[in-house]
Amino acid sequence: MTRVTDNPDHLLSLALGIAVEAAALITDGRRRGLSEVSTKSSATDMVTEYDRLSEQLIVRRILEARPDDGIVGEEGAQTVGSSGIDWVVDPIDGTTNFLYGLAGYAVSIGVRDPDGGLIGVVAVPTSAEVFTARRGGGAFCNGRLVRCSDTVDVGKALVATGFSYDPARRRRQGARIAALIDSIRDIRRFGAAAADLCYAASGRVDAYFEEFLNPWDLAAGEVIARESGCLVSSISGGPVRPASVLVATPGVFGPLRDLIASVDASLDGRATRPRPTA
Ligand code: IPD
Ligand code: CA
Ligand code: CA
Repeated sequence: MTRVTDNPDHLLSLALGIAVEAAALITDGRRRGLSEVSTKSSATDMVTEYDRLSEQLIVRRILEARPDDGIVGEEGAQTVGSSGIDWVVDPIDGTTNFLYGLAGYAVSIGVRDPDGGLIGVVAVPTSAEVFTARRGGGAFCNGRLVRCSDTVDVGKALVATGFSYDPARRRRQGARIAALIDSIRDIRRFGAAAADLCYAASGRVDAYFEEFLNPWDLAAGEVIARESGCLVSSISGGPVRPASVLVATPGVFGPLRDLIASVDASLDGRATRPRPTA
């Protein structure tokens, strides 16, 4: 039976403590050097011993505090809970950055209740930042309120995106970017979806879109982006899902969605009908 009697602030502080501990673990690992590096879904989809150690730590801490909760994690965690609270964990988002010693990898911990995303915590240790949000409570970076940008002109929008590990999908994504780039300010590819969502939430980019994500890429950052004032949907404008994510500051959201639709239509050789204005 679903039982949700939890105080969201307690869940947030638990998630925050765990994310900070996991971020310290991977930072320390990066400093000492990696010894186990292998591939997963494709030759470019990497996993290290610290992805696994981070997930083990996060799962252990969640179950110590909340044994009845469900957990799903990228590196295999799959616990069915009975409390109505589920944790969705990416132990290192941006593993390629982590592997190369680049900035911007993150620990991403989302908490869901029967109404959807409740808590998001994204720790980015290379910039000593932790983004947090609780549904209805605003979005924060290191405890300071953050808001999305106030950009209204899609032509001046800085847009983050990412590419799938699947070669055919990334070819198509590359073609889309090539067709889009003249109509916006510029593109950023930081390499960690959870951080991309937080950068949209804090106005460091005006929008972010990506396809073929997994639930753990999106769970935490989605709450943070929504709470910052960003609009959030699928790329075609339906409910957001990991397979299709569009997040933008309100003035850019509609025009960017229409721009992507028209680029996709021309890549497919289709004509687009203009959307009726609201
Ligand atoms: C990846 C990153 C990347 C995104 C990929 C994700 P991982 O996650 O978030 O930015 O473009 O789609 O799979 O593999 O580093 O956890
Ligand atoms: Ca990820
Ligand atoms: Ca990961």
